[in-house]
Amino acid sequence: MRTVRAVEARYRQRFRFVPIAGIGGRSQLAGKDTVLLRTASIADAGAITRLINVAFQVERFFVDGDRIRLEEVHARFETGSFIIAEDDGGLAGCIYVELHDDRAYLGLLSVAPERQRSGLGTLLTTAAEDFCRANGCRVVDLLIVNLRKELPGFYGRLGYVETGTAPFPVEVQTKQPCHFVRMSKVLDGNTARTG
Ligand SMILES: CC(C)(COP(=O)(O)OP(=O)(O)OC[C@H]1O[C@@H](n2cnc3c(N)ncnc32)[C@H](O)[C@@H]1OP(=O)(O)O)[C@@H](O)C(=O)NCCC(=O)NCCS
Repeated sequence: MRTVRAVEARYRQRFRFVPIAGIGGRSQLAGKDTVLLRTASIADAGAITRLINVAFQVERFFVDGDRIRLEEVHARFETGSFIIAEDDGGLAGCIYVELHDDRAYLGLLSVAPERQRSGLGTLLTTAAEDFCRANGCRVVDLLIVNLRKELPGFYGRLGYVETGTAPFPVEVQTKQPCHFVRMSKVLDGNTARTG
C-alpha cells in the first residue's frame, strides 16, 4: 500500500514546484500542463463562486440549488483565504483555508469538472497543508457529507482520518437525511485527536 508521503511525493514530483511569495504556495509546471497556484484576491470572488457551484453540482442527488452565493464567498475572504489553481483556460480549482491558532479548517475544495482526476484536487490540498504548516498549524480538519461515498477514499489517501461527526445545517433542505463526517490530519505525524 502506498504511504501518504508517497502519494504527496508523487504529486510534488509530477508537477515542478516554484515557490510564490505570499502564500507558501506554488506554481506548477508539468509537461504541456502549466498551472499557477496563488492566493485569490476579492477580484476572483465571482469566478470562485461559479467554479464552486459547478463542481458541487455532484451533490444535487441530495440537495438542490447552488452550493454558495457570491456574498458568502466575499464573507470567506474576511475569515480565511482561497488558494486557486489557474491554467490557460482560467480558474481550474480552488480550496478555502481558515487558520485557528495551531488548527486549520479546509473547505470548498473544487475542481472544474473537465479537469477532475488529473491531480489538481490532490495538489490544492497539499498546497493548502503547506500554507497551514507555514502558519504554524499542526492539525487540519475538514467536513464531508456522509452521503459522498467517494470522498473518504480521496482524503484517506492523503492521510486524513475520521475524527467525528457534525449535524448538517438544519436550514438547508435535503432530499435524504445526512450529516457531516469530520476528517482530520496531523501535519507533523502525531495522532489526530477526536475531540
Ligand atoms: C473531490 C475533488 C476535489 C477531487 O479532485 P480531483 O482533481 O478530481 O482529484 P485528483 O485527481 O487529485 O484525485 C486523486 C485520487 O482521488 C481519487 N478520486 C478522486 N475523485 C474521485 C471520484 N469521484 N471517485 C473515486 N475516486 C476519486 C482517485 O483515487 C484519484 O486518483 P486516480 O485518478 O489516479 O484514480 C473533485 O472531484 C471535485 O471538485 N468534486 C466536487 C466538489 C467536492 O466534492 N469537493 C469536496 C467536498 S469536501
